[in-house]
Amino acid sequence: MTDARMTLRAMPFVFEPTDGHWNAARPEFSQVVNSASLAMPYLEPYLIRTMRAAKGQITDPALQAELDLYIKQEAAHYKQHRLFNETLRATGYTCIDGLEGRLNADYTKLEKERSLRFNLAYAEGFEAMALVIGQMLIEDRVHLFGNSNAAVSSLVLWHFVEEIEHKSVAYDVLHHLHPGYLLRITGLIYATGHIFWRTRQGYHTLLKEDGLSRSIASHWALTKVIYRVLFNILPKWLRILKPGYHPRQIADPAWALAWATLFRDNPAGAAKLDTAQLAGPVPVAA
Ligand SMILES: [Fe+2]
Ligand SMILES: [Fe+2]
Repeated sequence: MTDARMTLRAMPFVFEPTDGHWNAARPEFSQVVNSASLAMPYLEPYLIRTMRAAKGQITDPALQAELDLYIKQEAAHYKQHRLFNETLRATGYTCIDGLEGRLNADYTKLEKERSLRFNLAYAEGFEAMALVIGQMLIEDRVHLFGNSNAAVSSLVLWHFVEEIEHKSVAYDVLHHLHPGYLLRITGLIYATGHIFWRTRQGYHTLLKEDGLSRSIASHWALTKVIYRVLFNILPKWLRILKPGYHPRQIADPAWALAWATLFRDNPAGAAKLDTAQLAGPVPVAA
């Protein structure tokens, strides 16, 4: 069974126009996140369509109900990312249409040319990675989000709190319909490689448009943040390779549980975290 906390939340984000550098001290990390955000309105609808296609084959009513909630959470995610992405487009980035076109083509092709079995393995590969990334973002929240734009930081942290909540659904669906280590690992490696490759293309393109790709200081800052993230992620990612892996074995961060309480008591505050006070065990609203 998946976490009983899994629920649909209407997030009242207010995205102000930014120059893309919503973390003024970390423009390179801002563009890494922006690049990933551009993928969401293509990746998450693909996950939803994949899960919907599998739903009829699921014989466990509890798993079907979890899948419905999963779909609702993912739909809420990409809609909010699309709103944020529009603020990036309004900033004047001319590369966004091209980046989005590539993502759209990738997922259209995957859906058309690959089996449902493969797409379910991709979905679980992505979800396993999203769980790892969510843990990393929450552990390193002060460094990555400290004193940055409240709405954008809150968007990313909300998204990954919910990724942690629905961590088991794609695994359980894949295991229910197509159990097998090799398929699961194929999906993990394919999804990880694909997402990292497209995200890397995206942030390099955005940083080039910023004029930062010619700066040695910016290159160094980008290298440092990428290695910081990868060093945190790698041991967590490697444990997914264990034959007996199940996402339920991974403990939820206390901060993610406290975030859900903050949202319950103060939804507007959860959409506008105080990024000067991210260090505490409990999220604080601005
Ligand atoms: Fe999501
Ligand atoms: Fe997800």
